[in-house]
Amino acid sequence: MDFSAVSYALETIDKLTQEVTSLWGVDEQVEGLASELRWMQSFLKVADARKVNHEVIRTSVVEIRELAYDAEDVIETFSLKVASKRKGGFSNCIKRSACFLKEGCLLHQIKWEARRPYPHVMDDNIVGLDNDVKKLIPVLVEEGSQCRVLSICGMGGMGKTTLAKKIYRESQVVGHFKHLSWAYVSQNCQKRKVWEDILSDLNILSETDKKMKVEKLVEKLSNFLTENKCLVILDDIWNIEAWDSLKPTFSARETRSKILLTSRNKEIISHADKNGFLYELQCLNYERSWELFQKIGFPPTNSLGYEIDVKMEELGEKMVKNCAGLPLAIIILGGILATKYPSLTEWLKVSANVKSYLKNDKGEVLRDVLSLSYDDLPPYLRPCFLYLSHFPEDYEISVDRLIQLLVAEGIVSSKQEADEGQIVEDVAEGYLMELAERCMIQVRKSTTGK
Ligand SMILES: Nc1ncnc2c1ncn2[C@@H]1O[C@H](COP(=O)(O)OP(=O)(O)O)[C@@H](O)[C@H]1O
Ligand SMILES: [Mg+2]
Repeated sequence: MDFSAVSYALETIDKLTQEVTSLWGVDEQVEGLASELRWMQSFLKVADARKVNHEVIRTSVVEIRELAYDAEDVIETFSLKVASKRKGGFSNCIKRSACFLKEGCLLHQIKWEARRPYPHVMDDNIVGLDNDVKKLIPVLVEEGSQCRVLSICGMGGMGKTTLAKKIYRESQVVGHFKHLSWAYVSQNCQKRKVWEDILSDLNILSETDKKMKVEKLVEKLSNFLTENKCLVILDDIWNIEAWDSLKPTFSARETRSKILLTSRNKEIISHADKNGFLYELQCLNYERSWELFQKIGFPPTNSLGYEIDVKMEELGEKMVKNCAGLPLAIIILGGILATKYPSLTEWLKVSANVKSYLKNDKGEVLRDVLSLSYDDLPPYLRPCFLYLSHFPEDYEISVDRLIQLLVAEGIVSSKQEADEGQIVEDVAEGYLMELAERCMIQVRKSTTGK
């Protein structure tokens, strides 16, 4: 039987108790936690010795292991918080930009508090999208139309979420609807969480609602959406089943509220609303692709001594063509090249790889650009990047919290920092900065204005 989680949590607690907790007057609580863990450990030992194989025992073992991980996480986070006097750093919020490399991740699961991405934070460097907004808004704000649901469709990395965010901030939209709400659905659709997120955006989620039966929650939300003109954005619905599980709250006929969803799946809209509006997002044309690439791959035009090397420009143009107008592919390629600017030799190396990685088939472009960007990572950044596959796509996390996790998980170890004479948190911050420079994570809010 697996005792490792409990034993390891106990070890961590023993190690940290004297160092940290006595300073902060929480030693009693930590001792209580340690004694619970010791009890769990004895339980596991007895169950193991007696070779008990019973449903209840199996379930308890799983729960104990989860609790042990949580306990360890809480203690380590606390101790790191105490130990770290750091404030702010290069930025205070980043997000993981795409769902990939999940398979490479062998780290144990910790229960993360799920958080929605912030729709009011727009990415910098947006190109185009004005025409898309122009086509969608009239449908959204049309009174008396039978259309209740609109869907923005396209493959991953095309810019569906980006477009939905832009719409969410448009003054015409904000002025038309009484309330706006944003919920991130994703592959792992948890209906209660989605409904609570919507209620919370609508400012009507109370503490009692959180304990309310799901039927009551549905009724509350459904009534509110019927009586008030709301726009609900459901970001990234994967399939019809996910829609079906969410739809009880959106079933009212007589309502002026509308739903805007984003999805890779074109079928959902006809299933959701026979008068629904399907908007198929197109890839960027070449001019827009180049415009985006220039923003990422080259230094800002106003920087001192800036002069585009003609050869690099030609090379960049060639490489962009291989991205098939997919914004995420362009951003990642640009991110790699920006780290090598202004070395033409380095750009030529990437260009040779791009040719072997990128195929014409659009579906393959993204995956291959992503593996190109991964292969291009220096070995010390790879575990750090793989660790980010723990988080759902578009998940936002504070840099301080992520640094704590990277250190607590031993992803960035103290051995690496010893030689440099740097504290381990600074090493981790440096790694995140490098990943951000490569556009493999996105910086959302920066405290230094970088
Ligand atoms: N029109 C655009 N201009 C600039 N960057 C874009 C554009 N569309 C998407 N992006 C960038 O491409 C990446 C993927 O976009 P996202 O909206 O998350 O795609 P999707 O939701 O379709 O998977 C993001 O980093 C986003 O900032
Ligand atoms: Mg998206």
